[in-house]
Amino acid sequence: MPQQPEPLDPHQDMVALLQGAWRARAVHVAAELGLPDLLVSGPRGVAELAELTGTHAPTLGRLLRALTTFGVFHRLPDGRTYGQSPLSAVLVSEPANPESTDARFMAANWHWAAWGDLLHSVRTGESSFEVANGGVSFWELTKTDPDAKRRFNAAMSAVSVAESTATARAYDFSAARHVVDVAGGLGSLLAAVLTENPALRGTVLERPETVPLAEDLLAAAGVDGRYEVVAGDFFESVPPGADVYTIKRALHDWDDDTIVRILGRIREAMRPDSVLLVIEGMVGDDSDQEALFRGLLLTVLVGGQDRPESDYRTLATRAGLRTTRTVRVGDTLRILETRLP
Ligand SMILES: C[S@@+](CC[C@H](N)C(=O)[O-])C[C@H]1O[C@@H](n2cnc3c(N)ncnc32)[C@H](O)[C@@H]1O
Repeated sequence: MPQQPEPLDPHQDMVALLQGAWRARAVHVAAELGLPDLLVSGPRGVAELAELTGTHAPTLGRLLRALTTFGVFHRLPDGRTYGQSPLSAVLVSEPANPESTDARFMAANWHWAAWGDLLHSVRTGESSFEVANGGVSFWELTKTDPDAKRRFNAAMSAVSVAESTATARAYDFSAARHVVDVAGGLGSLLAAVLTENPALRGTVLERPETVPLAEDLLAAAGVDGRYEVVAGDFFESVPPGADVYTIKRALHDWDDDTIVRILGRIREAMRPDSVLLVIEGMVGDDSDQEALFRGLLLTVLVGGQDRPESDYRTLATRAGLRTTRTVRVGDTLRILETRLP
């Protein structure tokens, strides 16, 4: 079990923890206003930044000053001009990097409000999102609200692209002819798998509202003529008869019984010799702070959670699948290879 370091001064450390939410919110606001982007071409004065962002100059100045105390932005000796620092540079939006898209995802009031009701999740084990957002679920909001949809998809895509390539390289798809990626998101896993395996064809199954985005990504991936994107619902049915099925970071959004239902739908689509790869962040005793807080985020947003590998094996068994092996992709990301009994 990893040991926590002894705090040097528990009072001071606790104050820093208590104010952590304020610090995070200040960073969200800086990202939301696009301040890092505005400083790409060089330092600017507070008055100019306030004009460009339509904000109250004295308060913007205080925000910037506070942010510099932990290294976000750099204050020039005149005290009124701010420049980029290595930390603020990470939040520049072009070229898209995971931290900048994550900052905009977290900056949304509905995201922040859901964390504000964490106590509801801890009391009930349920998502706090609906309680905090007038009864609207995360899935409903990202379906109907274009801004929420854009923020979610950007955050999902930023995380997904790098790990999709790693996943495609970690598993040998060379014997397969057709792969179906269930809840394939923006299509980055399928794009990576098809790029690594030039003879393979593939299908993404996604919610109708995500289909055009997956089509765009795959069209740009140089895998012409070897893919299709199908609008559907994994609670209803999954395209049948593929050699390999994949489902990446989609089961963790649901409770155990629902996961068994989804796996059951995929099992119904499988041929006797098909393989289903369950690709998830699988937590263990060595999981770091980031992974543990990401797990809480899943609960807050959608009532999901990260699980240890043993739980996924049990869920696969409950769905009538046997686990044949596990492949490690990255820090916590694992591929659980499952087949029909
Ligand atoms: C956390 S994302 C993961 C996406 C992708 N596999 C990845 O790794 O980036 C979960 C995905 O499940 C999809 N999803 C949610 N409910 C679904 C349903 N009923 N049928 C099909 N896809 C669904 C969402 O649209 C979303 O793209």
